Amino acid sequence: MLSLNNKNILLGVTGGIAAYKAAEFCRLLKKQGADVRVVMTDAAKEFIQPLTFQALTGNPVYNELFEADAQNAMDHIELARWADLLVIAPATADTLAKLADGYADNLLLTISLATKSKIAVAPAMNQQMFQNPATLKNIQTLQQRGVQIWGPDVGDQACGETGPGRMLEAEDLLQHVVQVMKPGSLSGCKVMITAGPTREAIDPVRYISNRSSGKMGYAVVQAAINAGADVTLVSGPVCLQSPQPVTLLACQSADEMYQQVMENINEQDIFIATAAVADYRMESIAAEKIKKSDDEMNLKLVKTEDILASVAALVNKPFCVGFAAETSHLEQYAQGKLKNKKLDLIAANRVDDPESGFEVENNALNVYWNNGSKQLSLKPKSLIAVELIDIITELFKSSRN
Ligand code: PMT
Repeated sequence: MLSLNNKNILLGVTGGIAAYKAAEFCRLLKKQGADVRVVMTDAAKEFIQPLTFQALTGNPVYNELFEADAQNAMDHIELARWADLLVIAPATADTLAKLADGYADNLLLTISLATKSKIAVAPAMNQQMFQNPATLKNIQTLQQRGVQIWGPDVGDQACGETGPGRMLEAEDLLQHVVQVMKPGSLSGCKVMITAGPTREAIDPVRYISNRSSGKMGYAVVQAAINAGADVTLVSGPVCLQSPQPVTLLACQSADEMYQQVMENINEQDIFIATAAVADYRMESIAAEKIKKSDDEMNLKLVKTEDILASVAALVNKPFCVGFAAETSHLEQYAQGKLKNKKLDLIAANRVDDPESGFEVENNALNVYWNNGSKQLSLKPKSLIAVELIDIITELFKSSRN
């Protein structure tokens, strides 16, 4: 594992039962060579003593915004400048909300606003709190601002409930830190990603589409950016803000998506097709609103271009990754698409399971390539996207050797 020697990690601890895991995380960071300083909120001190972190880091623990204690040596601006990485673990719903809204009413929040370093949060809370639309919106806001969201895990909780909201284990958090501190595994690589649904117009007011929200695709975009890639996002109509920095090419129909992809595919190293592209479009779009008349109505549909297969057929094709959305025979259909579309890798998901696939926050993927496969268990799309990008990176690099 990469050494963290000479790396300054600022650990923010907020008030949740998972605060006890922050002590182990702190120990692992030190063991890996990092210089660690800890900022605690008042609520965090209800769960764990500052002395624990002082003993583990060998540094004073920070808490007061207006601390006149010269022994602590650093004020909030100095701490903000000192950090190579700010990790808030555990990050409570309250702190996530305040971060999203730009509050600065404690030392940790003030540092978060003042720092230029990367920021990562490890959410930890009751599963209902995590799944509350307000919390999910705050997480989305932070993600769009470039804050890394590590976890949460799905499983048994201290409150006796089961679901998403457990803070990642200390070892997992350490892996994330090491990953962030590495020169990006995809730095120098150009990655094009399609995401969201397409809309096939019937007339000026109606269209045929599907349930894709774009969440999976946008999570893959964020993971690729975090891995240092230069990302081009070709997006169908979604209600999400694009992660930054990306080159965003917006489109509506499958034909438009095809055009945008084919015009910009040159020099891309990797192509990832997460979009749910319509397989059929209207043969001709009515110029005016179709009036209600007969009891039945027939629409004549014709096939759209298969964007992914077209990219995979290029002479200088990039490393091609497809998604397979299936309601049965997951492996069989996914393997068929891998072969028929001449892909390097395919990620298959069930779209008939209310826990995964379209619209929801979590997904599970079965990933297949020429002579291998890996199952990625149900977890937030942000997290599964990181695992997928790791697999893609490894196979892409070995394909170029
Ligand atoms: O957006 P979310 O709500 O988060 O949902 C995520 C998702 C379920 C949409 C996503 O995980 C997913 O499965 N995306 C692929 C959906 C799909 O169209 O699957 P498919 O099995 O029909 O197509 C196979 C592959 O060919 C896909 O990579 C697709 O992008 C591509 N394709 C299909 C048709 C076409 N005309 N052009 C294509 O490029």
